[in-house]
Amino acid sequence: KMNTFINKLMSKMTLDEKIGQLNLLTGGEATTGSVVSTGVEQKIKAGQVGGIFSLTTPARIRKAQEIAVTQTRLKIPIIFGQDVIHGYKTTFPIPLALSATWDMELIQKTARIAAIEATADGINWTFSPMVDISRDARWGRISEGSGEDTYLGSKIAAAMVRGYQGDDLTKYNTMMACVKHFALYGASEAGRDYNTTDMSLDRMYNEYLPPYKAALDAGAGSVMTSFNDINGVPATANKWLMTDLLRKQWGFKGMVVTDYTAVNELIDHGLGDLQTVSALSLNAGVDMDMVGEGFLTTLKKSVKEGKVKQQRIDDACHLILEAKYKLGLFEDPFRYCNEERAKTEILKPEHLVYARKAATESFVLLKNDRQILPLKKSGTIALIGPLANTGSNMPGTWSVNSDLANTKSLLQGMQAAAGTDVKILHSLGANLLADAQYQERATMFGRTIPRDNRPEQEIINEAVKLASQSDVVVAALGESSEMSGEASSRTDIEIPAVQKRLLQALLKTGKPVVLVLFTGRPLALNWENENVPAILNVWFGGTETANAIPDVLFGAVNPSGKLTTTFPQNVGQVPLYYAHKNTGRPLEEGKWFSKFRSNYLDVSNAPLYPFGYGLSYTTFAYSNLKLSKNSFKPGESITASIEVKNTGAFEGKEVVQLYIRDLVGSSTRPVKELKGFEKISLKPGESKTVNFKITEEDLKFYNTDLKFVAEPGDFKIYIGGNSRDVVEAGFSLSK
Ligand code: IFM
Repeated sequence: KMNTFINKLMSKMTLDEKIGQLNLLTGGEATTGSVVSTGVEQKIKAGQVGGIFSLTTPARIRKAQEIAVTQTRLKIPIIFGQDVIHGYKTTFPIPLALSATWDMELIQKTARIAAIEATADGINWTFSPMVDISRDARWGRISEGSGEDTYLGSKIAAAMVRGYQGDDLTKYNTMMACVKHFALYGASEAGRDYNTTDMSLDRMYNEYLPPYKAALDAGAGSVMTSFNDINGVPATANKWLMTDLLRKQWGFKGMVVTDYTAVNELIDHGLGDLQTVSALSLNAGVDMDMVGEGFLTTLKKSVKEGKVKQQRIDDACHLILEAKYKLGLFEDPFRYCNEERAKTEILKPEHLVYARKAATESFVLLKNDRQILPLKKSGTIALIGPLANTGSNMPGTWSVNSDLANTKSLLQGMQAAAGTDVKILHSLGANLLADAQYQERATMFGRTIPRDNRPEQEIINEAVKLASQSDVVVAALGESSEMSGEASSRTDIEIPAVQKRLLQALLKTGKPVVLVLFTGRPLALNWENENVPAILNVWFGGTETANAIPDVLFGAVNPSGKLTTTFPQNVGQVPLYYAHKNTGRPLEEGKWFSKFRSNYLDVSNAPLYPFGYGLSYTTFAYSNLKLSKNSFKPGESITASIEVKNTGAFEGKEVVQLYIRDLVGSSTRPVKELKGFEKISLKPGESKTVNFKITEEDLKFYNTDLKFVAEPGDFKIYIGGNSRDVVEAGFSLSK
């Protein structure tokens, strides 16, 4: 039915009109490049626009759609996109934080709520999920993904797609997902944004590609190309990537859109002029051109000159029309323009409940000496730091729809939670960054952080005075939200020095200090780990952060977040990740340095906080690891069981993690790979047995012939509350 409809429509379309469908323009509210679309209204009328993004509110979208369906020859509706990345107006924690919940149901729910709100505002296509694996703390966009792990990243990718798309794309409250950035964007050299990626097929297939595939297997309707070069051919011109892999090997049937002006950027990559790169990109498999208008302005000429086959344009146009059809836009172009829904569905109280829950569950307790946390609800708290009194910093990067002006600050949240029981004192204590220009670069897009131009010591002294009058100091420090995210890479991944000097001064008062750490990336926290008794990493928690932090600080919620990205000791260790290869000269057990072994002279290989790590106000003990048998055959399975006991005084949640190592392979295998996890809740003294079923499928990997195989032999299994502290056993897969 769909094909008949589209074929009939396309039979009436001129080449110009088909090319027009391949053009995606920005409505101008959020731009992330130097080019901004102009003359959009005229272009719609001329049939030169297939989609618009970053235009919101039903009224404005209705206006644009009306032009398309009443004033163009063929009345083809427009598709409306938006970067709905971690929630819409109800903003959830940044994706890296959300992944630290290890809660697939919750993650899916956040995507569902995002879709309900975004579609209520006229949007039917989101540029999410971002599934780029990244192991480079310097890369600002590590904040937008699910961390370093392939298995977890794949599960999250699928959960997000299910949340956005639901089970029926034509519904008024579901929207099409767009998997990005295809591909390997998270491995850009030196963590510098938009930089080159050079990667072996082994690493691609086994480590970086599976999350994209998982999102597509979950039904994602579209794919966005990445900006980076891949082994000599930029992704946006990469035929192997978009045609051989995506279409032929993976069987993807949806549409491919470029990133912002990515076609035009092929000129700077050195692939030719606009006509050449547009043809290259289309021929490689791109269907829709975001903002750059290279398709619009050159493809007709390329068809005439034989550089592009009309069939390829037809195919691209067909795929775009299919997406519109699947969204129900031909049936009702105004399906997503319902002013009433915009009033009632956005920022609903029940959405905010989820936002608060997601935030509390994403926080990771990195240290808690002498059980300083949870705080007592009495006495005086000095809340110090540049990140204490800013609401606009809370939602985190890529939250274009967040109501920044009405987002509460931590100071407001603490005051509300403390009521009359606790006295809260506040002072800035330090600027975010000593360098005012750096602070300006780090607080763009309306994210403001108070700044004090007095001499540094004066600002510190004022804070120290308040700290001395308090029972406990809560220091709100770290990064601003715009110190991570797009084009926000850093070579120094420590807390800015000026804030560290404040922390030193606060510690000198002898008062207990709790560091509430805001960050969008793994930071190097060696000094803080040595000197600060309690560290709660709150990332950027979205709309409800100001309520969620006191929930955890005062113990209404016991923290349970677990890192999905390794925190290194210093930037020189980066990229650092748990699922590394062994090398031929691994370090001997128990040593941190050995000459002629794979290590550094100045620092051990160990991370500061390993993947999967996160404390709780209670403690958990792992015992009784059992395997149902020691060996199994393909087609059979084996069950690993472990007893987990809550050995502390608080009820708490624990993410029980299963890792496997393939001891001998036809190619080298990582020292550990996550293959299962379960989040459980235990009352004090309570025990639970957690079972993991392991099948041949869990042991498969891409061999050097790129065949997905499980090789008979010996395996190790590790179970624990993080990737380092585990109990182990062994089994074998027989022929
Ligand atoms: O979706 C984004 C992408 O992640 C980065 N460049 C701009 C796109 C559209 O806003």
